[in-house]
Amino acid sequence: MNCMDSEFQVTIRQTGERFSCSSKESLLAGMARLGRRGIPVGCLNGGCGVCKVRLLRGKVQKLGPISRAHVTADEELTGYSLACRVAPQCELELEVAGKMQKPFFKGFVFRTGQVSTK
Ligand code: FES
Repeated sequence: MNCMDSEFQVTIRQTGERFSCSSKESLLAGMARLGRRGIPVGCLNGGCGVCKVRLLRGKVQKLGPISRAHVTADEELTGYSLACRVAPQCELELEVAGKMQKPFFKGFVFRTGQVSTK
């Protein structure tokens, strides 16, 4: 798959989970199709910060403004963003960050059999 396609695979580094996401939808919408607990349903407009992620590989396009209270300009330069406000432009790898970490990992059983108690 390359950056000319419109449907991309997104990998969550901490869990190894993968989901498909279109270049016309937010990462949060694609992530929601994992259909599991811990994926936040927040404001969906970049204001609450509950869907914070760090992009590790790949490119995204902004779908709208994000609150600087939740992602500072310096953080954005190091890959942080809000999953509800960006769409993939390429295959991506990301990390769940900020407020989303606690609900996302609570009770999650990693491939090693380890259960998160965070
Ligand atoms: S859901 Fe509120 S900032 Fe993304």
